[in-house]
Amino acid sequence: MKIAVLPGDGIGPEIVAQAVKVLEALRTDGAKIEMETAPIGGAGYDAAGDPLPEATLALARDADAVLLGAVGGPQYDALDRPLRPERGLLRIRKELNLFANLRPALLYPELAGASSLKPEVVSGLDLMIVRELTGDVYFGQPRGIEIRNGERVGFNTMLYSESEVRRVAHVAFGIAMKRGKKLCSVEKANVLECSELWKEVMIEVSKDYPEVALTHMYVDNAAMQLIRAPKQFDTIVTGNIFGDILSDAASMLSGSIGMLPSASLDEHNKGMYEPIHGSAPDIAGKNLANPLATILSVAMMYRYTFADIATADRIENAVKQVIAQGLRTGDIWTEGTRRVSCSEMGDAVVKSL
Ligand code: IPM
Ligand code: MG
Repeated sequence: MKIAVLPGDGIGPEIVAQAVKVLEALRTDGAKIEMETAPIGGAGYDAAGDPLPEATLALARDADAVLLGAVGGPQYDALDRPLRPERGLLRIRKELNLFANLRPALLYPELAGASSLKPEVVSGLDLMIVRELTGDVYFGQPRGIEIRNGERVGFNTMLYSESEVRRVAHVAFGIAMKRGKKLCSVEKANVLECSELWKEVMIEVSKDYPEVALTHMYVDNAAMQLIRAPKQFDTIVTGNIFGDILSDAASMLSGSIGMLPSASLDEHNKGMYEPIHGSAPDIAGKNLANPLATILSVAMMYRYTFADIATADRIENAVKQVIAQGLRTGDIWTEGTRRVSCSEMGDAVVKSL
């Protein structure tokens, strides 16, 4: 297995180093893994004047899977839009056709106290958000800022073709089949034509999955229901912008955004794996970050791209064990638990593995 390792910016290099330790431990046990590192985001701009350097994209294309840390930092905010770190991320998603973004929100029982919601609202939470990742208002044309009637206007286009909706629908129904067989499609069909088509295609695809109960919810209501009673959801499927917003909200249900991994898949289950959180420039280089979301992203890599469920379970169990042992980085620390650094957390996971 060839893994392209793209640490990126901010805390990216520190957290990816811990995930690489986990991969190296698996290699010692006989897993056949090759890893190669390349810059992306601000690091790509610094190295090659491009947030997605040619060589990085080539490496990622050639790899079976990509492990990404995070991109972005205040020193890059003043760059022209096409040179910003976020553009590197959006481009690699598009170039590799990673249209299905899986964002689980799972609550570890020991972390219930770290959630901003009451423990009874979130305990037992196990939710999967499937976010479409290569379409919608993120990529729709036309877009721009121009002068109309003597003043500046900004515009973007919300656009989905039926084939784009259909392929992410199949991924979402497939995942719902392996989970609780409940799929909620989130859109804004009461206002947007784009959502109207989305909903129609979801209903068409549902005919192939008679065992899955499909429901529909407007995005504003879904935002409210996620905070009010999140356990009503099993699997959610939604477009790029709604998924961006709802997945940040869902992450807080589980206590810390530092715990949540993600997978972005193409139609052959090739994937890019990254924590949901960002580059956290305020704590970068201080060995304080929580590496568990990145380590759990490696577990998702085994589950989805390598189809090695046993190893995925093994990594997830190792993480559960260090949590049960009371080890905590600052973001999930509570009275009575042991505060550890990023690298100590990585070492503990490797030991428990
Ligand atoms: C995410 C991020 C990205 C997005 C940004 C960094 C471009 O918020 O992965 O959710 O909007 O998709
Ligand atoms: Mg986001």
